[in-house]
Amino acid sequence: MSAMLLLYSLVGWLGIAKGLNNGLGLTPQMGWNSWNAFHCNIDQTLIQETIQAMITTNLSSVGYVYVNMDDCWAYARTPGTNVIIPEPTTFPDGIAPLAQLAHANGLKFGLYSDAGNFTCAGRPGSLGYETIDANTYAGWGVDYLKYDNCYDDNIPPETRYPVMRDALNATGRPIFYSMCEWGVDDPWTWCVCFLCIRNAYVRFHPPWILYVLKRDETQCSDPVQTFSNANNVCSGNVPQSSHFHRAGDVGNSWRTTGDISDNWDSMLSNWDNNGPAADAGPGGWNDPDMVFLCCLEVGNGGMTTTEYISHFSLWCIGKAPLIIGCDIRDMSADTKMILMNKEAIAISQDPLGQQCTMVASQNSGNQNVYGTPLSNDGYAIVFLNRWNNSAVNIPVTWTQLGLNSDTSYSIRDLWAHEDLGVYKGSFTAEQVSPHGVMMVRLTPTS
Ligand code: GLA
Repeated sequence: MSAMLLLYSLVGWLGIAKGLNNGLGLTPQMGWNSWNAFHCNIDQTLIQETIQAMITTNLSSVGYVYVNMDDCWAYARTPGTNVIIPEPTTFPDGIAPLAQLAHANGLKFGLYSDAGNFTCAGRPGSLGYETIDANTYAGWGVDYLKYDNCYDDNIPPETRYPVMRDALNATGRPIFYSMCEWGVDDPWTWCVCFLCIRNAYVRFHPPWILYVLKRDETQCSDPVQTFSNANNVCSGNVPQSSHFHRAGDVGNSWRTTGDISDNWDSMLSNWDNNGPAADAGPGGWNDPDMVFLCCLEVGNGGMTTTEYISHFSLWCIGKAPLIIGCDIRDMSADTKMILMNKEAIAISQDPLGQQCTMVASQNSGNQNVYGTPLSNDGYAIVFLNRWNNSAVNIPVTWTQLGLNSDTSYSIRDLWAHEDLGVYKGSFTAEQVSPHGVMMVRLTPTS
């Protein structure tokens, strides 16, 4: 094929490029999800009360907007039409009034389903019913879909998840698409190409052949699957800018780990196994699972208050979704204090949308410094002490942070809520508590 013809084909394709472009998730999503606190014990009263609690606690005023029902709301499919029916005993009024109530309170409403034959709790899944379900959700006024990965029929997630993306897009209603395939197939590496030209991911002529290009590889794989109909294939995309990220072509966020539990080791394990910063950004985020704050009285939860502060700080600087996993009708003062720290939330919601990286480490990795640039030449740092029995100083230099050594920054402690002074070249977080953090914001002084 001549170069001209090739170019012509590419331009033609660009005009019809599909992908996730719903304008949502420009910063990590904030809200609540029913699973961690309630599992299958959900009903319409709980959701109504949670919507009210989002307002009365002021969680909504600091940015928490989504009220998301997880598994166990779906009951069966209508014979003939296959339209999904909500559980009649727990949701006798159906789903639409709950979405309306959320909207009437300035909130958004989310649902859960599964890219398989059943949900993880054995309710009807959406595999094969994507269009019917997406249309039903849109008709109910749903704003968010968490899409799980149980009972997958041995079809790879790269193939199953784009089908629901396209069905949601086709409804014309902007619906946040939260993929939950637990990182098993490294969603941050997904890309699909139909013809592999150098390192571009290009949709081309039939026969429709699926190739997968993994991160850090320069060549597409051997053909994975051949399709007779292009509509069955998850579409690729062409890198448009340095912010291009491949999972972001499919979802607004993608789980990178298994489920988080309410303890320090689980939280850190999810943190350490989160997806890479390079593949996240405005429109699509790595998701190491919910913010697990137990909301019981201090001392009764699976982590100490110090540990919960560390958890929240890491999720903020890591640009993880801030989806609360507790009963917000009954929060301890410490839980509220943590979840509603506006200065920490501002790091999460900074418009630059850059996930942190680990810039320094000491004592065999037991202390880590995580840093990330912010808009307006700002910078955020979390100093983490993994030791459980001694406080420790954790230093960092501007060179390690990738900052100009001659620039002076005023530094603010985002948990003490106090200015620490102006620093140039280096800073040391003094006596960071066992299992604790220091979280600071740097602002250039000139
Ligand atoms: C999976 C998900 C959880 C939750 C349950 C519901 O385990 O990872 O977050 O949605 O299913 O059954």
